[in-house]
Amino acid sequence: MSKEFVAARNDRPLIQVTRLSKHYSNGHGVIPVLRGVNLEVRPGEMLAVMGPSGSGKSTLLFILGLLLPASSGNYQFMGQNMLDLSRAAQAEFRRRRVGFVFQNCDLFENSTVYENLEFPLVYAKVERQERPARILAALERVNLAHRIHHPANYLSGGERQRVAIARALVNQPLVILADEPTGHLDRANGHMVMEHFEQIVATGDTALIVVTHDAEVASRCTRVFSLEDGILNEN
Ligand SMILES: Nc1ncnc2c1ncn2[C@@H]1O[C@H](COP(=O)(O)OP(=O)(O)O)[C@@H](O)[C@H]1O
Ligand SMILES: [Mg+2]
Repeated sequence: MSKEFVAARNDRPLIQVTRLSKHYSNGHGVIPVLRGVNLEVRPGEMLAVMGPSGSGKSTLLFILGLLLPASSGNYQFMGQNMLDLSRAAQAEFRRRRVGFVFQNCDLFENSTVYENLEFPLVYAKVERQERPARILAALERVNLAHRIHHPANYLSGGERQRVAIARALVNQPLVILADEPTGHLDRANGHMVMEHFEQIVATGDTALIVVTHDAEVASRCTRVFSLEDGILNEN
């Protein structure tokens, strides 16, 4: 793909969020969490979202990934309204457009790396004969092809998180949503995870939104935001 084409495409936002709000209701009443978040994300951007614990960072990420409904506002992905999709269309979006990476990896412990990566492919109805190449390609991007047949519970913490990144990549998502992906890693492994993310967004196809407490992680992102009192501000 030519550079000019990538540049032209990058002019169009992937994500456009306006006046997004979210409150939770519990036995004691209503807890407002997001109070009018505005955000625009383009392919190839790498965004950090920081903010105090409980400020709603995970909530925002989950809404962007359609894992949680918003209370009000507008969310467009490639120009399409996301908040009024049918359940089937939401599931399709999660399967094909989004890659999730969480702090705790959430791998199937007794399954191999291969099986962990095959799961989202099966879920996305990718043909059986297509799967090995897709799995290998994703593992190569995090330098873990040699671990393909290892059980997940034999891996180190850093390797586990890299497998989780490969799993997020396997369906070739347009956005990766990562919730404190380096939270449980030492510095060296945290660096490695960020290097992989940088290489992934450098292709220009994918955007990354990473929730983090780590100023060093944020410093490697192209834009840094703070979520406080339900409002998202760019630093
Ligand atoms: N399912 C829920 N029901 C009620 N309150 C919730 C729920 N999930 C999160 N919250 C509350 O919403 C606020 C934001 O949570 P969260 O998005 O997890 O924050 P962060 O990721 O920034 O730490 C917190 O006060 C949390 O207790
Ligand atoms: Mg959180």
